[in-house]
Amino acid sequence: MDFVPDYETAKKDVRDAVFGTYSQAYTVTNEDLRKSMCFMLEKCENALVVAASGDHPLFCSLYGAKNVDAFDISYNAKCIMDIKTLALNTLNHQDYIRFIKDLYNISVPLMDVKNMDRVLYKLPKTEYDYIYALRESPIFIRKSISLNVAVLPTQFEYNKLQESVKATYNFMLSNICKMGGKLTKSYDFIHLSNIFDYVQSFNYEFVILSLMEHVNPGGRIVTQFFSEGNDDTFGIRMTKLAEKRKNWIFNKKIINSVGKFDYLKNGIYVLERVR
Ligand SMILES: C[S@@+](CC[C@H](N)C(=O)[O-])C[C@H]1O[C@@H](n2cnc3c(N)ncnc32)[C@H](O)[C@@H]1O
Repeated sequence: MDFVPDYETAKKDVRDAVFGTYSQAYTVTNEDLRKSMCFMLEKCENALVVAASGDHPLFCSLYGAKNVDAFDISYNAKCIMDIKTLALNTLNHQDYIRFIKDLYNISVPLMDVKNMDRVLYKLPKTEYDYIYALRESPIFIRKSISLNVAVLPTQFEYNKLQESVKATYNFMLSNICKMGGKLTKSYDFIHLSNIFDYVQSFNYEFVILSLMEHVNPGGRIVTQFFSEGNDDTFGIRMTKLAEKRKNWIFNKKIINSVGKFDYLKNGIYVLERVR
C-alpha cells in the first residue's frame, strides 16, 4: 500500500466521531465473530473482510480462509491489525493476552505496553513512524473498563492462528462505497459486519451489487447490523435484489444470542451465489 499518512491531519481527525482515514480503530472486537464466521464455506480460498480491530481477519483465518484481504476506511485499523498479526508471530498465548489487555487499558501508555517494542520494530517503517508520531493520540479505542475476554482467542485457537498466519494481511484503504471498482480478485467469502450501520441506506444496493461482481460461484456475502430495526429494511431489499439476479439466493439466519451479543437477535444476512 502506497499511502503516506499525514501526522498533523491524523492528530486532528482522530478525535472526530465520524469514520474516516484517521478515525480511531477498535482495539478489540465487540462482536461474536465465532458465530458469523461459521457461515464461511468449508473450503475458502479467498476472503475479504473489514480490518476493524484486526480480529475480523484473524477469525477469518481461524475458520479456514487460506488468503485474507482486509479493507477499512481508517488507516488506524491497518495499524492495529498489523500489530496483532506481528504479535501473534512474536508472543506466546499468555503474553499475547496480556498484550491485548494492556493495549485496551487506558492507564497503560501505548509505548509502555509490555512487549510493544518487540512487535513495533517488525512493522514497515512508514507504519512504525506513524504510530510513534501519534503515540500520545487516541488512534486506538482504549477503555478503563475491563475487557470481555470471551472475544480473545483461546490457547487452542491461538495455536491454530500461529500455524496459519505467517505474514500481515493485504490491506485496502477504502470507503466500502468505492471499493467494488478497486477489487482485482474474486472471493469465496465477503464479511461485512457492523459497516452498513454507517453507510447511508440509499447506497445499500449499489455497494452490494459492486461486491457481487467479485464473488466466486458458491461464495457468500455475509452482513451483520447492530442497528437494523424490526422492519428489516435491509432484508427486504436484499431479497428483491437476489430475486432479480440469476444464480443468487438470499437468506436471513436467526441466531440465538443473549447478553453482550444481543445485537445478533437481528440475525445474520447471507447472500449466496449458487454454483
Ligand atoms: C463499524 S466499526 C465497528 C467495530 C466492530 N464492531 C468490531 O468488532 O471491531 C467496523 C469498522 O468499519 C470501518 N468503517 C466504517 N465505515 C466504513 C466505510 N464506509 N467503509 C469502510 N470501512 C468503514 C471502521 O473504520 C471500523 O474499523
